[in-house]
Amino acid sequence: MKRDHSKAAARKGVAGRPFRPESLMMSYGYDPGLSEGAIKTPIFQTSTFVFESAEDGKAFFEVAYGLREQGAEESSGLIYSRLNNPDLEVLEDRLTLWDEAEACAVFASGMAALATTLLAYVRPGDALVLSEPLYGGTDHLLKRFLVEFDITPVGFPAGASVDSFEASLRDRIAGRRVGAILVETPANPTNALVDIASIAKLAARLGTGDHRPAVVVDNTFLGPLWQQPLRHGADLVIYSATKFLGGHSDLIAGACLGSHKAMAPVRALRTFMGTMAGPWTGWLLLRSLETLKMRMTAQMKNARYVADFLRDHPKVDRVHYLGHLEQGHPMHEVYRRQCAGPGSLIAFEVRGGEPAAFRFLNALTLVQLAVSLGGTESLAEHPASMTHADIPPDDQRRMGISPGMIRLSVGVEHYEDLLADVQQALEQT
Ligand SMILES: Cc1ncc(COP(=O)(O)O)c(C=O)c1O
Repeated sequence: MKRDHSKAAARKGVAGRPFRPESLMMSYGYDPGLSEGAIKTPIFQTSTFVFESAEDGKAFFEVAYGLREQGAEESSGLIYSRLNNPDLEVLEDRLTLWDEAEACAVFASGMAALATTLLAYVRPGDALVLSEPLYGGTDHLLKRFLVEFDITPVGFPAGASVDSFEASLRDRIAGRRVGAILVETPANPTNALVDIASIAKLAARLGTGDHRPAVVVDNTFLGPLWQQPLRHGADLVIYSATKFLGGHSDLIAGACLGSHKAMAPVRALRTFMGTMAGPWTGWLLLRSLETLKMRMTAQMKNARYVADFLRDHPKVDRVHYLGHLEQGHPMHEVYRRQCAGPGSLIAFEVRGGEPAAFRFLNALTLVQLAVSLGGTESLAEHPASMTHADIPPDDQRRMGISPGMIRLSVGVEHYEDLLADVQQALEQT
């Protein structure tokens, strides 16, 4: 009997129980019969695809360009790798499983995913509502670039309740149409949380007539394992796939997921801007996804040891770590509802400001001094002068980014070695 490699069969699982995403990361969406029986998806390093007939070519374009609906039995044919490629298609199918999304598009970087998605939803004259802080590159895109196209960024503080800022937000929106609300939760670098469900309700209140702003959530810090924004009312979820999804600090990529409807304009703009990832990056990500859960789980366990150690250290003023949120803290309830675990990112503030922070960073031996996060190796950086350097000092302070703050992405090393390294580096501060 021939095995059924269809996505429907894989999702069904056995004995009435669907398989979990981690069980499907090795096989979902790939039919070995289409590739000489190769167990792994080959790298389809090709720019274009040969049509069997001119009629096929016509039919593929009609579907790809939305000139007619795809037939129930009709598969969308491969045309050209800017539209799609088998490595990206298999990857996109696998990514949908974690977030329970209908559709996914993979991009050349997290920034390409963000830029393409936002441009698909905002128009000149619009306001773009955003949580603060955001990753420095995203902050630049919104406040220095999109403003030049008459798109007004209107911020609110991550960690605050919607009630506390809605009135001032409305004042600053000043009657403009709100094209999208961009939320980064937890925020980079402070780990402040935004309540996605209440932002979805706010989006409904900020809508006018038929228009409701799209709620776009950057899930890079916790996703896809420990937070699934679509379940809480987000329309689109974004990843810098450079981080946990890639997981080995050896590629740059991004992803956007949502319903077919929400993804349609994003996919269309990706085609015309050419911001997709290449097949080699897609292949590397497929390999990474097989170990995603193991890596993220090991990193999360290590991070708790490091965070607890930092909390008790006399040279550390404050630790921003989701696992330390206590009952009664305003963000604890959001954490409990929205997150399945604290992840592996820690921000902490050393006594003595930038000079002490630099002494700490320069003294590290096992932990590498580098930006980025989510890889197998632990990385430390200084947000105020590195990832968020572009944000003026007063705004940094308002957003909670202090001169003594270090951002630590905890990897898969032995936790005792990490503690020893952090301890000796703190002695140098
Ligand atoms: C939260 C977050 N979003 C987006 C990005 C941008 O991703 P990329 O570097 O893959 O373009 C980053 C990069 O650090 C990030 O931390």
